[in-house]
Amino acid sequence: MKPQVVRECSALHSLVKSLHLQNLRVGLVPTMGALHAGHISLVKESLKNSDWTIVSIFVNPTQFAPGEDFEKYPRTLENDLALLEKENGNQNIIVFTPSADEMYPKNFFTYVDVAGVAKPLEGQFRPTHFRGVATVVLKLFNMTQADIAFFGQKDFQQVQVIRQFVRDLNVPVTIQMCPIKREEDGLAMSSRNRYLSADARQRALCLSRSLKRAKAMILEEGIRDRATVEAEIREILTHPKHSIDYVAIVDPETLLPQEGAGIQLPVAILLAVRVDDTRLIDNMVIE
Ligand code: PAJ
Repeated sequence: MKPQVVRECSALHSLVKSLHLQNLRVGLVPTMGALHAGHISLVKESLKNSDWTIVSIFVNPTQFAPGEDFEKYPRTLENDLALLEKENGNQNIIVFTPSADEMYPKNFFTYVDVAGVAKPLEGQFRPTHFRGVATVVLKLFNMTQADIAFFGQKDFQQVQVIRQFVRDLNVPVTIQMCPIKREEDGLAMSSRNRYLSADARQRALCLSRSLKRAKAMILEEGIRDRATVEAEIREILTHPKHSIDYVAIVDPETLLPQEGAGIQLPVAILLAVRVDDTRLIDNMVIE
């Protein structure tokens, strides 16, 4: 069965109200569409943990800066619905796909601005990004009244930013982080992978390869000097057609460097690399 598609906030509101009146548990999976197996793993997790799953599909303009890929971001609704249809055996998936005017009507003036964990890394390279993410995600929490929401570790900093404002603003939702889905060769699945040429797709493997190598250095070889591990990662990522935004070996909670020159476990390693013109991110938490 095709999932039910809702485009208007008012329609979503009535639907959600009736679910809550029946004491049904609502799960939310926010996405920007161009769905792949990574997104679907979140949907599966939500179906396991809630009675109804709302999958939002909305390419959120406020999280893209001018010059980023908002216009060319893939929009593949028919294909997305076909993928979700396969998961809709119990007919309890609702797809919410609002228009930009529905989400940001005229005279929209309120944004959620998270400090702390939103400021390093992505925050340095995309200074307005998390303001757009936090704003749209809080709107989705309010619109869906979800009991639980599912996010991928693929966007590790995004999960920390969302957890931060949920705590700070007393939002009554549980946040569940799900593991990164990878292609068989290790590439983290991403809607942006479709921008890669065959050659760039091959070179893009350096991200996951460098993380694997770092893990082996730390856990198998017992190397705890941060600079040594970072240098090795950078060497693996380096190529004339790549440019590294950051290689960060940081505390998984604060996303700030740990004290001193050594690595203490758990540690998070986060990467952002432009492969040709495509900006890719990947990460690993080592415990
Ligand atoms: P999008 O990039 O579409 O991702 C939607 C969700 O899918 C995010 O929680 C993301 O971390 C997760 N995801 C993406 N690739 C994944 C992978 N390979 N394995 C596991 N999970 C993966 O993230 C966004 O959209 C937006 O910022 C959004 C939260 C929807 C706000 O607009």
